[in-house]
Amino acid sequence: MSHQQKIMILGAGDLGRRVLSELAHSKADRHIQLVGRNKEETLRAANLASFCSLQRGYTINVAHAITDITDVERTAECIAMSNPDVIFLAASLQSWWVISTLPSDAFNRLYAANFGPWLPMHLVPVMKAMQAVKMAGSDAVVVNAAFPDAVHPALSAVGLSPHIGIGNVANNVPGIRTAAADYLDCCVDDIEVRLIAHHYVSHRLSRHGDKGLGELGLAVVMNGTDVTFDIDVSRLLKRLPTDYRRTGGLPGQAMTAASAVSVLEPLAEGRDSVVHAPAPNGLPGGYPVAIESGGFRLALPAGMSEEEAVRINLAGQKQDGISEIRPDGTILFEPSAMEILDQELGYRCSTMALSEAEERARELARRFRDYRARGCTPATHKPMSTKLPSPAVCSDEAH
Ligand SMILES: NC(=O)c1ccc[n+]([C@@H]2O[C@H](COP(=O)([O-])OP(=O)(O)OC[C@H]3O[C@@H](n4cnc5c(N)ncnc54)[C@H](OP(=O)(O)O)[C@@H]3O)[C@@H](O)[C@H]2O)c1
Repeated sequence: MSHQQKIMILGAGDLGRRVLSELAHSKADRHIQLVGRNKEETLRAANLASFCSLQRGYTINVAHAITDITDVERTAECIAMSNPDVIFLAASLQSWWVISTLPSDAFNRLYAANFGPWLPMHLVPVMKAMQAVKMAGSDAVVVNAAFPDAVHPALSAVGLSPHIGIGNVANNVPGIRTAAADYLDCCVDDIEVRLIAHHYVSHRLSRHGDKGLGELGLAVVMNGTDVTFDIDVSRLLKRLPTDYRRTGGLPGQAMTAASAVSVLEPLAEGRDSVVHAPAPNGLPGGYPVAIESGGFRLALPAGMSEEEAVRINLAGQKQDGISEIRPDGTILFEPSAMEILDQELGYRCSTMALSEAEERARELARRFRDYRARGCTPATHKPMSTKLPSPAVCSDEAH
């Protein structure tokens, strides 16, 4: 008899529910548990997935459980009780799309800071979930959606990195394959792509069709032959936001869900596969990855070393607003990116130790809430004084 696949989805928001729905439409012998913090919402979401699956002739077992991820003991209890083979983390204190719900001028100003400064909102739930995984003594493979490109290298310093991420680098691969098949006038099945790109570059590719100020690595292989040099790569990539543009925003998270399933299914089924994923084994940024016997090996283009791939990703990391992730997990933020959050929200953080992340996430959430409540007027550093300061206190620091 085949082994029943046991998958836990921790985080019952938009992405967690999409992935639940995708995984529930399968003929596999599969048990999926959706774990959220809102009892009513989580129960309804689990039943919806179960009934949709049943309606289409599948009999996947969908359960649900309730925890607040900040309650590490309770989350560990949930994990120990269901003993999953694979855990998918889809929890966040503030998903990437939340700033897009602001008025467009405020959104554009904050968007210019890129994603790095928001790291605490993604890192904290992942850190708590990983503490729970350890406390439960679980040997599940942990797959994370929340900004893995930067969260994993930071948490690997303290042995808390999930095993692999999903999305970002992966989300552009089908578009690149389709554009390359068109360019080379062949069938998309004949085309394989090997893409190395950080979150920043992945985002640039879908929105602008270029690598911006970051770097990327790309090999296009047709029927086993590397044809990258036969292609005008810049022209090809420009077709992503033009001829091959796709739905974005929240509905566009269907692409992320598909990328997640491309990683989750081989892991749950114990099947080997070559995929694209961010942060395998705690590395920064995104890579082509071979899933082999439940482990991960980089599947880089011929001739590219791991050092080169990491260097490409670190160039993207800097453009995303993160200057450095130190070996102890301390994060240094780019001053130019943080300047924007300071001007808009009054939030400034140049260096963050992992032990400070929770406090920083709380502060960022509070300042963002206040920003929205006051109609998104930029924060003034200090009220303008009507009196000139005395020369003794008139330093750069006072401004
Ligand atoms: N890698 C990629 O390509 C990619 C693409 C899209 C999204 N993402 C990331 O995936 C993550 C999820 O995105 P999303 O769009 O699904 O966000 P979302 O709809 O806001 O869902 C996040 C979920 O996390 C839950 N949560 C927050 N704090 C929690 C806690 N203490 N305990 C339990 N649950 C908690 C929220 O619960 P409540 O509902 O109770 O608030 C919410 O259901 C984000 O980090 C997002 O940036 C990654």
